Amino acid sequence: MKSEILRRLKEAGGYVSGQELCGSLGVSRTAVWKCICQLKEDGYEIEAVRNKGYRLAESGDALTEAELRSILDTEWLGRRISVLDEVDSTNNEVRKLAEDGAPEGTLVLAAKQTAGKGRRGRSWESPKGEGIWMSFLLRPDFEPAHASMLTLVAAMAVERGIRSLCGADCMIKWPNDIVLNGKKLCGILTEMSTEDDHIRHVVVGIGINANTGSFPVELAGSATSLFLELGRPVKRAVLVKEILKAWEHYYDIFLKTLDFGLLQEEYNERLVNRGRQVLVLAREGEWTGVSRGVDREGQLLVETADGQVNTVMSGEVSVRGIYGYV
Ligand code: ATP
Ligand code: BTN
Repeated sequence: MKSEILRRLKEAGGYVSGQELCGSLGVSRTAVWKCICQLKEDGYEIEAVRNKGYRLAESGDALTEAELRSILDTEWLGRRISVLDEVDSTNNEVRKLAEDGAPEGTLVLAAKQTAGKGRRGRSWESPKGEGIWMSFLLRPDFEPAHASMLTLVAAMAVERGIRSLCGADCMIKWPNDIVLNGKKLCGILTEMSTEDDHIRHVVVGIGINANTGSFPVELAGSATSLFLELGRPVKRAVLVKEILKAWEHYYDIFLKTLDFGLLQEEYNERLVNRGRQVLVLAREGEWTGVSRGVDREGQLLVETADGQVNTVMSGEVSVRGIYGYV
């Protein structure tokens, strides 16, 4: 009910009478008043004026369960949400919920992560209240071999979400980063649990530096935030909404073929370094070539000087621009 009241206050833009809220929601005045108090505790500024009702002041950058519920327009993703103050890693939290039988689409966000994870055991800096640290649960009905492409699907959703909300010209850095002006804005970590040859569940984790004001020195050269690049704060809840909507869109397309056949062209248009020299950091050693975009399997095609086109799989390598991170 709290999120429904919030939604109505937002839609109204001005005053909504207490009586109208009670009548349409079928609850008592006291129940409405309790929800208003809870919203105030969550940080919303709500004016209550006799004979006029309630009015919501500009809601700022609240990233709460009620805020998300009041704006989400997805079919299935984020129908179950939990927003935590602090957690080790939202990916770990969703994994635990998955093991307890949580449904597909379960979404967890945290204001802060104390042990945010990147790929291959690296850590992910997740300061309180500045970014979007979120993970969601999938229970796909396909073979594990297709799952590595889910990271690419998520990258498309994040890229579209950011572009549509902020108009920022961000790009995808294969396989799991979003970059803006040559620096890392977002990282994606997809983790899968399998049994025999089937997927038990997949956790898609997305970290976005939304309103981060500064980074530790060791990251300052390669990391950035929307706030730093755009010079204004973004509404994180609205960005989450846009990304989740875009995820449903791209995931639906992916499920039609279980490969990147229908998404490849759009993905490659958003791929940073396409047609440029890249450095491939593989276990066996480093080599350079020109990035030719992804194939139907979501693997990166890199052409070496002798004209040979090699496929690069996401699990094994990092790709860099030859002069730096991009
Ligand atoms: P790769 O190309 O292998 O993905 P990467 O440097 O992007 O290389 P990841 O494992 O994807 O590595 O991401 C984790 C790395 O991201 C960390 O080692 C750290 O350097 C960097 N990092 C950690 N927190 C943040 C953050 N909030 N924003 C940007 N970069 C971060
Ligand atoms: C990377 O760039 O290596 C991936 C970083 C992924 C970070 C996100 S933040 C939400 C989720 N929880 C985690 O512990 N990691 C992901």
